[in-house]
Amino acid sequence: MLIAIPDLLDAATLAHVRGLIDAAAWVDGNVTSGHQSALAKNNLQLPEDAQRAKQAGEIILNALGKNPLFIAAALPLKIFPPLFNSYAGGQAFGVHVDNAVRIQAGTGFRVRSDLSMTVFLEEPEAYDGGELTVETQFGVQQVKLPAGHGVLYPSSSLHRVEPVTRGRRVASFFWLQSMIREDGERQILFDLDSSIQQLAAALGHGHAEVIRLTGVYHNLLRRWADA
Ligand code: NI
Repeated sequence: MLIAIPDLLDAATLAHVRGLIDAAAWVDGNVTSGHQSALAKNNLQLPEDAQRAKQAGEIILNALGKNPLFIAAALPLKIFPPLFNSYAGGQAFGVHVDNAVRIQAGTGFRVRSDLSMTVFLEEPEAYDGGELTVETQFGVQQVKLPAGHGVLYPSSSLHRVEPVTRGRRVASFFWLQSMIREDGERQILFDLDSSIQQLAAALGHGHAEVIRLTGVYHNLLRRWADA
């Protein structure tokens, strides 16, 4: 599944993140690539250990932790510290699959990449191209969202970033390990959770069937989750 997370960062938070990263020293993006993706990648990134990148990453992690849609859709267990990239002047990232396991340099912190996330940090009108193109089981989807919005997609999918032919595309990107490894099981839980929220709004949280369905949700989660 491919899920947009609107309004992950409000205007003030977005400005704070941009203030931190715009003043940082950008380097060739191939510092984080695996061998296969290095062949396809042409962009700039902030080094993982750059202090400003770490601060901006913390802000994004904090926003994720407060976002009910993100939590319901991703059911996150471990999140790789957010990274930052920039594309301009025709830069692009050709078709690739993200590495299955990410290890944080220096700490040994390991994340199995079940889901990849991009948080757009520039308004779409400010640049041409730069769409995130994801090959899903329902066909090719192109994503280019307002600044502060994010998108979650399966790390197993083939994806690419289209060439940026005007302006500059700035984004945060990272991977996460979900409590639910299987995409299909995660989708069932997300659909069930969404329906329970709708029913609770219509019938009241104390309605007997809302309580029973909430129990079903948690019993499925208990059956399937790594925690
Ligand atoms: Ni990728």
